Amino acid sequence: MAKILLGVSSSVAIYKACELLRELKRRGHQVRVVLTPNAEKFVSKLTFHSLSGHKAYSDWEEDPFLHINLPRWCDLFLIAPCSAHTLSKIALGLADNLLTNCVLAHAGPLMIAPACNVEMWNSPPLQENIKKLRERHVVVIEPEEGVLACEEEGKGRLASLERLLDWVEWGLRQKPLSGKKVLITVGATREFIDKVRFISNQSSGKTGFAIARVLWWYGADVEIVAGYTEEKPPPEIKTVRVVSAEEMLKAVLERLEDIDLLVMNAAVSDYRPSERFEGKLKKSHSLELSLIKNPDILEEVAKLKPKNLRVVGFALEEESVLLQNAEEKLRKKDLDLLVANPIDTMGKESHRGYLLFKDGRKIPFSFGEKLGFAEFLVSHLV
Ligand code: CTP
Repeated sequence: MAKILLGVSSSVAIYKACELLRELKRRGHQVRVVLTPNAEKFVSKLTFHSLSGHKAYSDWEEDPFLHINLPRWCDLFLIAPCSAHTLSKIALGLADNLLTNCVLAHAGPLMIAPACNVEMWNSPPLQENIKKLRERHVVVIEPEEGVLACEEEGKGRLASLERLLDWVEWGLRQKPLSGKKVLITVGATREFIDKVRFISNQSSGKTGFAIARVLWWYGADVEIVAGYTEEKPPPEIKTVRVVSAEEMLKAVLERLEDIDLLVMNAAVSDYRPSERFEGKLKKSHSLELSLIKNPDILEEVAKLKPKNLRVVGFALEEESVLLQNAEEKLRKKDLDLLVANPIDTMGKESHRGYLLFKDGRKIPFSFGEKLGFAEFLVSHLV
């Protein structure tokens, strides 16, 4: 696991740094904390000491070389939250406290997550300094829009915990998929009966988004085609929305020539109503629904498959026929890899099943969290 140096500067958002630290520790990383003197007015060093299990520093204390030793110790240096003032000092190369000295003495990857008022965020000097930092390959994690601590609305809120963690994982990974274009479908399609009712399924889209995020950590150029899902797509990944199976098929086929890998995670409705009623059907109307088959997207892809395209499919099956049916699907849909899951895994955070490869290999897996499964799958794709 990685060694992370967490820099904390003065902002109301500092309480989120405590949560971030806890989650990084939970994921097995070692974390040390360096604060600016003003940050200490919000949260004491003792809090960070207790959470990290290491002494937190805002000045040199007994070690005159702390500003050299701390950055040399870490694999990744993240400053979250980073105030507008600290950001601008870093851009100028100023070193007036332990944190800014550590930045100057740090030769490895640096990430900065700013938090400030919307007018400060939009101010030309701050934007010029951000540009300067990005030109130096510093990762500046965009703040989010919303209600700010000052009760104004706009961009300036520290990126959410999930996004900060995502960026940390991104920062810690090699990029073996760099230059590879990946399309991943997620969520459930909806087949409308009338203006308000539809046929669909229970897919949450969580697994698909977890895979998309991990593919991005490993450097892939990822695009998501999302059916219905309540999950928020990661803002760093381009996402196209579709509703029905036919729309999803069109979106996939349009991109087929440009991609290296298709991950078909969406739960596509196999049937749609043969006609869609205008407006809203009244219940006085006697109703017999006639359904017709939707196109099978993977089978359509198999007919047109460009030579170098790799395709991953999924199969959700009853436990007793899981492997038998999954093997049949792998062959019929001409897949390179198939993820076979028993039905009881649907809607759960945990994930178990088998990876089935075209060459006949079968690997069983079981993970407590979607991200663990996603990392396992992507390591096989790599
Ligand atoms: N799939 C697809 N187009 C469809 C239905 C499914 O491309 N119309 C894809 C899914 O995205 C998944 C794989 O096919 O990757 C298997 O989906 P699954 O629902 O398990 O199986 P089906 O092929 O629909 O077969 P059945 O419902 O008979 O199990």
